[in-house]
Amino acid sequence: MKEGFHSMVLGLKAKAGTMLAAARTSLRRYRGGTHHRKWGDSHSLSADWDSRTEQIARLIPPGTTVLEFGAGRMVLRKYLPEGCKYTPSDLVDRGDGTIVCDLNARDLPSFPPHDVAVFSGVLEYVNDLDRLFERVSKSFNVIVASYCDRQQFPSRVMRRSQGWVNDFTPEELQGIFCRLGFHCDRVESWNVQKIYRFVRRQPTSVASAAAGGESSASSTPAMR
Ligand SMILES: C[S@@+](CC[C@H](N)C(=O)[O-])C[C@H]1O[C@@H](n2cnc3c(N)ncnc32)[C@H](O)[C@@H]1O
Repeated sequence: MKEGFHSMVLGLKAKAGTMLAAARTSLRRYRGGTHHRKWGDSHSLSADWDSRTEQIARLIPPGTTVLEFGAGRMVLRKYLPEGCKYTPSDLVDRGDGTIVCDLNARDLPSFPPHDVAVFSGVLEYVNDLDRLFERVSKSFNVIVASYCDRQQFPSRVMRRSQGWVNDFTPEELQGIFCRLGFHCDRVESWNVQKIYRFVRRQPTSVASAAAGGESSASSTPAMR
């Protein structure tokens, strides 16, 4: 009897915690904000995501310049194929020349052109994906991104309690890139998430000065 009551109290406490976290995220989203405190704490980054990063790296052609947004522990650099040049970007300065940038900021900088942009575990934290990609997609011919969509993970409360601020279906997400002149040539699964590769239909010359050298980016890099 006593045990049953105890577990009921624990269950209620967990539920209240989830609701509170969800409410905080909704408020932050409403204000157009970002969870700086969470991402400023290195304990918020997990090695459990490294297999996703490894899978993403296999979608990147060798010899390309790669800018990773939300680079976190910068594990991608280790898995990149031969000849790639890596530039990290994050909300927080993670060292090694990180381009510090809040993807929710009103004024986004213009990013140095690279062949490939990577967003691994980041899109869920961006308040306005349409606006972000309208601004940044011009700098890249290939965009590789992971996303947990609302078909796989439908509960709005659970999504917000994770800190996720958007709820796209796979079709809606792909629509954002289609409107900007990309097509999706690969979709893979990683746990309940998907990894997408978007390739510009008419590649632009994004030859990179930024990654410190020549680039193969005058056309879309050869895809495997
Ligand atoms: C879930 S972690 C993923 C880290 C890494 N990409 C990985 O897969 O291991 C999310 C990353 O996105 C960054 N991030 C979160 N919100 C951001 C924002 N508004 N602007 C830029 N980066 C953000 C965090 O600092 C963190 O490094």
